[in-house]
Amino acid sequence: MRSLFFLPPPKNKVVVIKLKSGNNGANNSFGGNYMKILMVGDIVGRPGRKAAADLLPLIIQEHGVDFVIANGENAAGGRGINREITDEFLRQGIEVITMGNHVWDNREILSFIDQEPRLLRPANYPDDCPGQGYNIFHGPAGRRIAVINVSGRVFLANLDCPFRTVDYILKRIENQADIVLVDFHAEATSEKQAMGWYLDGRVTAVFGTHTHVQTADEIILPAGTAYITDVGMTGPWHSILGVKTSQVIKRFLTQRPGPFEIAAGPIQLNAVLLELDDTTLKPVSISRIMHRVEA
Ligand SMILES: [Fe+2]
Ligand SMILES: [Fe+2]
Repeated sequence: MRSLFFLPPPKNKVVVIKLKSGNNGANNSFGGNYMKILMVGDIVGRPGRKAAADLLPLIIQEHGVDFVIANGENAAGGRGINREITDEFLRQGIEVITMGNHVWDNREILSFIDQEPRLLRPANYPDDCPGQGYNIFHGPAGRRIAVINVSGRVFLANLDCPFRTVDYILKRIENQADIVLVDFHAEATSEKQAMGWYLDGRVTAVFGTHTHVQTADEIILPAGTAYITDVGMTGPWHSILGVKTSQVIKRFLTQRPGPFEIAAGPIQLNAVLLELDDTTLKPVSISRIMHRVEA
């Protein structure tokens, strides 16, 4: 069992944690001829955008990443996303942006989500909501990559059943996608694990998002689906889920609402690297990536 300890990092150094999974005996290539997909955890505010701008090109180059997805639900000051930031992400090489419970926080999204197929919101919102919850994208070598964004219901809004929503989508895209990636944006670990096992063998990967803390349970499930409960958060490292620690502590102590502002200081990028066999397009490894930069 590997364990790497990097806390606290030296000043002005990029700290990289790369943990290779056991993966039920599958090989982890790192540098082999595999298709590589990067899923970036919730990008939070200006610090998260800086982390993405500074670190994504390095990660893409280092691992030879072929396709990048990022959760952008907190990209605009922690609350939603706007056109400018969407364009910024797409320019940086993020092919698909997924969202979550904060999708409607910045109302500007209403003006462009219907015209931007690379921006997804949870598919299980009511039918008359704008935007789309899944799409199929043309990846490298003509691979058809379906990305599905869906939200959990435990401790979150009472949306349509996420399990049946994915069933419905899988039926609709049958034979139309070579790779199927699911961003399951959910709070409860149990709901996320249930989704992973429910979809095992039916999709390529289930990436959990929303809790902003990277979990150490990445695995390739018995029927071949890669899974992690939470990819983590890209944003201020010295924070509580991206927010100034003093403000969150005050809320707990006083039980009163107060300002929630994005924290400053050191930044981090959390992501997961998925490697697929070039022929079968089945996952051969899933690895956590955590870059932390002392400001
Ligand atoms: Fe988030
Ligand atoms: Fe969220």
